Amino acid sequence: MSRSRRDFLRAAGSLLGVGLLADVLPAPGMAADAMAGMPMRTTAARLAAPNVPLVNPAALAPFVDTLPLPARARPVGRRGHPAWPGRLLPCYRMEMRAFAARLHRDLAPTPQWGYAGSSPGPTIEVERDEAVLVEWANALPSRHFLPIDHTIHGAERDRPEVRAVTHVHGARVPADSDGWPEDWYVPGRSALSRYPNAQDAATLWYHDHAMGITRLNIYAGLYGAWLVRDAQERALGLPSGEYELPLFLCDRLIGRDGRLYYPVSDDPAAPWVMQCQGNAVLCNGKLFPYLDVEPRRYRLRLLNAANSSFFELALTHGLAFRQIGSDQGLLPAPVERSRITLYPAERADAVVDFAGLAGQRVQLQLHGGGILEFRVRDRGRRDDSVLPAQLRPVPRLDVAAARDRMLSLGEVDDAGGNALRMLLDGKRWSDPVSERPRAGAVETWSFVNLSGDAHPVHLHLVRFQVLERRPFDLFAWNARRELKYTGPAQLPPPHEAGWKDTVRADPGMVTRIAVRFEGEPGRYVWHCHLLEHEDNEMMRPYELLPA
Ligand code: C2O
Ligand code: CU
Repeated sequence: MSRSRRDFLRAAGSLLGVGLLADVLPAPGMAADAMAGMPMRTTAARLAAPNVPLVNPAALAPFVDTLPLPARARPVGRRGHPAWPGRLLPCYRMEMRAFAARLHRDLAPTPQWGYAGSSPGPTIEVERDEAVLVEWANALPSRHFLPIDHTIHGAERDRPEVRAVTHVHGARVPADSDGWPEDWYVPGRSALSRYPNAQDAATLWYHDHAMGITRLNIYAGLYGAWLVRDAQERALGLPSGEYELPLFLCDRLIGRDGRLYYPVSDDPAAPWVMQCQGNAVLCNGKLFPYLDVEPRRYRLRLLNAANSSFFELALTHGLAFRQIGSDQGLLPAPVERSRITLYPAERADAVVDFAGLAGQRVQLQLHGGGILEFRVRDRGRRDDSVLPAQLRPVPRLDVAAARDRMLSLGEVDDAGGNALRMLLDGKRWSDPVSERPRAGAVETWSFVNLSGDAHPVHLHLVRFQVLERRPFDLFAWNARRELKYTGPAQLPPPHEAGWKDTVRADPGMVTRIAVRFEGEPGRYVWHCHLLEHEDNEMMRPYELLPA
């Protein structure tokens, strides 16, 4: 049962992926399972057919809109923070607001939520070790426009519908400013957060993290880039300024009226679905945009902001990516790759060289279809950027004396094999804190994936190294909770040899990471970054104890 349901969801996802959605989904009212030839079940978690006609992106004219580049946020002044008495720091004010914008020239404006009324929101650029404050203000309407599941922990009926709290993904930040999921606040309220930025240059991102509705708030558009810069990276002479492009990728389903459609189960009282896959892939909030570029090197900061889809990206014209960075900054050396795969929340920094391609139209492709077009035009300027052979040392963490925590990734199914919720180490969010590392300690965490899906696991506060992935015997685990390996450990490929904050844990594998817990003691979280999973129990607190 479980398999066939998954297969159905997957098949639907991949069909959606080629842009045929309007043609393959059943008419409103017709059961999705009936279409897929599955036996009828009485359980809840089936994917319901959309109740509105959806846009078929394949029918839209491609590459008629320019690629939006997020504005750069500017501090509104200097302010103090109660936790840092006597210091006046640059302060940003980021207001979450409803707005409408066209996702494509030929679509009606789409109502969305965004920081400063845009999605992605403005980019916050900070310098390493220069602290800033941000006032995250909730100026959203009082009703949500996406389907809340009140049976999910933290989203019960007695909670306000619209709640928000911002987390900066990948930031080494004091617990009081990390965006604890239960520290949400309602429209009209705001939170003042402090960010020391004591960390290496990297592509971070900020997004909503409100308990039980994160998937809906991010789908609505609440995310943006947070770039940490430092002198070491600057000294390398990589492409910068207009030659450095943040690229947020996410997939959506769009109604023909321009509204976002979020998939639901066929139980209106429990609409949660275990994954959300769209057929329209947005680059910086646009469908099939284009960008005029020069025949020279560019730095692309690729970021997967999707709820649950992974993206396998490639370029046309035989162009390769030279990947220079991952989640937490530069790799030791550039890695040439014809394809880059990103799971939700993962980032890849890549240099792409359009030299010699003047007059050509190069596509960034996803699973073989163009999602962004680069129009190469010579403007007679010289490329003075550099792509050094060495980028920075990434010394391997010494794990000889490290404590290992074995943590399972699993799901709880009903009798029919439908996922009711997803769990980390068999525990729910409200179970007592069980992971309490000491500040400064190095630990290894081994994610034992018992489910049929890959889960991108993210730890707040820290950066880590991927040690290995190793196949294990699921039956031995289920029978005796015994970890029996069935094959050799697979070492991470070179593009995973840098610092990460989100790691893909494959099904049937134990994925092991090494973490040094640097930061201020306090409560943080770790979770699966498939937002549907994160919202339905696949998130746990951890507590950083004093050294
Ligand atoms: Cu990208 Cu807990 O978040
Ligand atoms: Cu997951």
